[in-house]
Amino acid sequence: MKDILDRLEERRDEARQGGGDKRIASQHSKGKLTARERIELLLDKGSFEEFDMFVEHRSTDFGMEKTKFPGDGVVTGWGTVNGRIVYLFSKDFTVFGGSLSETHAQKIIKVQDMALKARAPIIGLFDAGGARIQEGVAALGGYGEVFRRNVQASGVIPQISVIMGPCAGGDVYSPAMTDFIFMVRDTSYMFVTGPDVVKTVTNEVVTAEELGGASIHTTKSGVADGSFDNDVECLLQMRRLIDFLPSNFEAGAPSWPTLDDADRIDESLDTLIPDNPNKPYDIKELITKVADEGDFFEISTAYAKNIVTGFGRIAGATVGFVANQPMVLAGVLDSDASRKAARFVRFCDAFNIPIVTFVDVPGFLPGTAQEYGGLIKHGAKLLFAYSQCTVPLVTVITRKAFGGAYDVMASKHVGADVNYAWPTAQIAVMGAKGAVEIIFRADIGDKDAIAARTKEYEDRFLSPFVAAERGYIDDVIMPHSTRRRIARALAMLKNKHVEQPRRKHDNLPV
Ligand code: HXC
Repeated sequence: MKDILDRLEERRDEARQGGGDKRIASQHSKGKLTARERIELLLDKGSFEEFDMFVEHRSTDFGMEKTKFPGDGVVTGWGTVNGRIVYLFSKDFTVFGGSLSETHAQKIIKVQDMALKARAPIIGLFDAGGARIQEGVAALGGYGEVFRRNVQASGVIPQISVIMGPCAGGDVYSPAMTDFIFMVRDTSYMFVTGPDVVKTVTNEVVTAEELGGASIHTTKSGVADGSFDNDVECLLQMRRLIDFLPSNFEAGAPSWPTLDDADRIDESLDTLIPDNPNKPYDIKELITKVADEGDFFEISTAYAKNIVTGFGRIAGATVGFVANQPMVLAGVLDSDASRKAARFVRFCDAFNIPIVTFVDVPGFLPGTAQEYGGLIKHGAKLLFAYSQCTVPLVTVITRKAFGGAYDVMASKHVGADVNYAWPTAQIAVMGAKGAVEIIFRADIGDKDAIAARTKEYEDRFLSPFVAAERGYIDDVIMPHSTRRRIARALAMLKNKHVEQPRRKHDNLPV
């Protein structure tokens, strides 16, 4: 009997060795942890239950039958993060570069299916070179199955992808269909094909970092939602993110104990808006002063910085914050900002997370670059996303809400529930200068007349009261009471229920 038990331990040890000491040392020398070390950090201590540790590939081509590793390049199973169940798979780069074989795919599919059935989030830790080249179409078929499950799980359970090494092919397409992608700076890359193939096909010489490093995907392409300095920091931040997320679309936003009084007022907000309407201020100051304990998990921090998105809590429960950022491009809405915010709004709505929107927007960014880039379609994504929301929507206009952007940014007209404005709010079709130059074009040579017209326009329209007189704004509130008013509005809306018209699915302007 003892022999049998020992044999089990031996087989387990063998599986834990992955691709062997040399490859593990090489992984460490690159500043990367192994698949199992990553799991240890992500999950609560001792909570990991592994599946399919002894699965091996069945390929016999290219002498593959002589090279087998138990586990076949991916560690799968489930565990807990602060007591809440999550499923995960962690690619083992030390085994065939973490590449996906038919059996490797079956292991991932098994946890995908389980996570979907058990209605708990799934996290993929990626460090992998795509389809296992020796297996050909069997690997491609495996990816197809994984992709289909990514889509089936979308909007049912949160799916998070963490890119922790060079990832190519299917190992970037599957993440692209999940809710969030995070990367580790300087050690992770995402590309459909790597620099060598790029050189062969297009003659372009490019480094892995230039092609698909975190510096590219978090700023230029917007493919990744954030990046961190190293594996440890990244995994600890993933634990923090999971604390904000519901387990599934029906579970509701999680609530954690807080010592921060929902009625807390903050006098400093009364002077947040500068006297000069063209001077910027940092909207993140408002977010952190409103959120419980100033805790804000920002999504896509470095991309389209003219809009801020992320999770915080109010009265202990998760809310999504969306806010124009006057510090960057005056907070204007452009294609990238619209896309970024639309995706975030849709995530929140899909998972029943209420949305708090702070508005200070001078309009949509004009010009050929934007129009040629499809601003109309991208702007429509955000408009569409807000308009289809059924979660509680609370909006506060702090300063400018001009033109179409006023409508788009969770106005009453697109379905927001409670809309407040600060006394500094200016809600109008456009700023005074632009307005006067159009409607009083004949007076343009006459400086005094223009000044008088501008003053007249400012007095009449650049205040919250024209909108408040029509009921488009529910109240004009003191900035210092913003947290209390939002908390009360969210409590009032707790059981909000809206039925959408029957249909197969909508046709978002993708
Ligand atoms: C089998 C692979 C592999 C793969 C890497 N390896 N990728 N084995 N199939 N796809 C193995 C290597 O042979 C090596 O084995 C070990 O993993 C480490 O690889 P290195 O190249 O030494 O590492 P590195 O220099 O860090 O480069 C990593 C890499 C590169 C950028 C991922 O290996 C690479 O470009 N691989 C191929 C990527 C690719 O084109 N994949 C197919 C994509 S198509 P040893 O034994 O030496 O440790 C695809 C289809 C899906 O995925 C469909 C999408 C729609």
